Amino acid sequence: MKKVIIYTTTTGNTEIMAKAIADGARESGAEVVCSSADSVDPSLVDSADILYLGSPAMGDEVLDDPMEDFYVGIEGRLSGKKVAIFGSYDWGDGQWLRDWADRIRSAGGTVVNGEGTMCNLAPDDAGVAECKALGAQ
Ligand SMILES: Cc1cc2nc3c(=O)[nH]c(=O)nc-3n(C[C@H](O)[C@H](O)[C@H](O)COP(=O)(O)O)c2cc1C
Repeated sequence: MKKVIIYTTTTGNTEIMAKAIADGARESGAEVVCSSADSVDPSLVDSADILYLGSPAMGDEVLDDPMEDFYVGIEGRLSGKKVAIFGSYDWGDGQWLRDWADRIRSAGGTVVNGEGTMCNLAPDDAGVAECKALGAQ
């Protein structure tokens, strides 16, 4: 089982989530790759049994620009793929993750964590535990 976690972050909050997901994934016995989107070859997506994608809410409830660019590059590789999405936000209600989930489903992927896993700003202990559990699933 290979779990690939790819994220973007501006102040580190989504990165904390990504690292907690990676911890949970390792504890589940999976092979794990966890990387910022700017240093990832899109073909890595093909090798993932589960792909975890993370982005903070930016602009007006949209993906961070670097994740938008990365995502557009991999969208054509998502057919039949299990995908989990996550990210940090501040004042919104999760619209950026709901829209992202719709895009992934339209591309033929399956979103395995409902409307996504989100943490308000820096994850607290409960948020870190939720992310670890997501990584273990
Ligand atoms: C330019 C900008 C736009 C933002 N837009 C939103 C938004 O639309 N909705 C929201 O809930 N939070 C928004 N935020 C807050 C960030 O999502 C929040 O600070 C988050 O914790 C950043 O995560 P990161 O540290 O992983 O980048 C915005 C922040 C900035 C700087």
